[in-house]
Amino acid sequence: MATSGAFGGKSFLAAAARPSSNVDRVTALFLHPGITGVFKNVEWPEQFPFEDEDFQRDDVSPDSLFYKAPRFVTHIDDPAIAALTMFYSKVLPPSNSPGVSILNICSSWISHYPEGYKQERIVGMGMNEEELKRNSVLTEYIIQDLNVNPKLSFEDDSFDVITNVVSVDYLTRPLDLFKEMSRILKPGGQAIMSFSDRCFWTKAISIWTSTGDTDHVLIVGSYFQYAGGFELPQVIEILPISFTC
Ligand SMILES: C[S@@+](CC[C@H](N)C(=O)[O-])C[C@H]1O[C@@H](n2cnc3c(N)ncnc32)[C@H](O)[C@@H]1O
Repeated sequence: MATSGAFGGKSFLAAAARPSSNVDRVTALFLHPGITGVFKNVEWPEQFPFEDEDFQRDDVSPDSLFYKAPRFVTHIDDPAIAALTMFYSKVLPPSNSPGVSILNICSSWISHYPEGYKQERIVGMGMNEEELKRNSVLTEYIIQDLNVNPKLSFEDDSFDVITNVVSVDYLTRPLDLFKEMSRILKPGGQAIMSFSDRCFWTKAISIWTSTGDTDHVLIVGSYFQYAGGFELPQVIEILPISFTC
């Protein structure tokens, strides 16, 4: 599912996982062809089109305060998690592949990888130590506020995959971070950013809270585009899966 392109051999994928509050019985993973094609038709401006004010947030207090207390909750509902996990089962390297390293940024106590998924190295990066300690898929974790310090302290070409679930909307320095992601991804690696239409409203950047789902795809696409080093993104809308008895 990864694309190929001319920007240094990095491939990536942007995915949208939607909550299913109004959906009773969705039983299939649905790939939306309209959204999938969206990047092919985008004529990006020469310069990154957003300004500092687009990354302002209502709650300007340090993120370390907001995330001080652990939240052992899920931020998307069970059908959306099931769909995202199924998606991961198709695109992540098979469990226990020799030499595979994965970085889960904006991680918490749950990464949504398939049940029993393992790799030699799965690093979680997040804000709350108690949450990260409880995340059984991680082999190590790092507490780091990416809005204060978006530098990723890893060697070049360290990771096969970078994942980020329902958190890209909190990033105030996305280009710095995406440049770092490009640097630490191995050639042919992929970054998978997934997001839904829920968020901590006061902590999301203003360009996110003032726009809609399609704009969000373009916003995240622009991060890849202007950070450089990535191929053309693929966008996949992941519809929730309900399990009925
Ligand atoms: C809505 S939660 C999602 C957690 C997890 N990815 C999941 O799917 O359940 C947002 C996550 O973003 C992380 N986060 C928010 N602001 C951050 C920042 N400034 N630096 C690093 N991580 C941040 C928090 O640690 C938190 O776990």
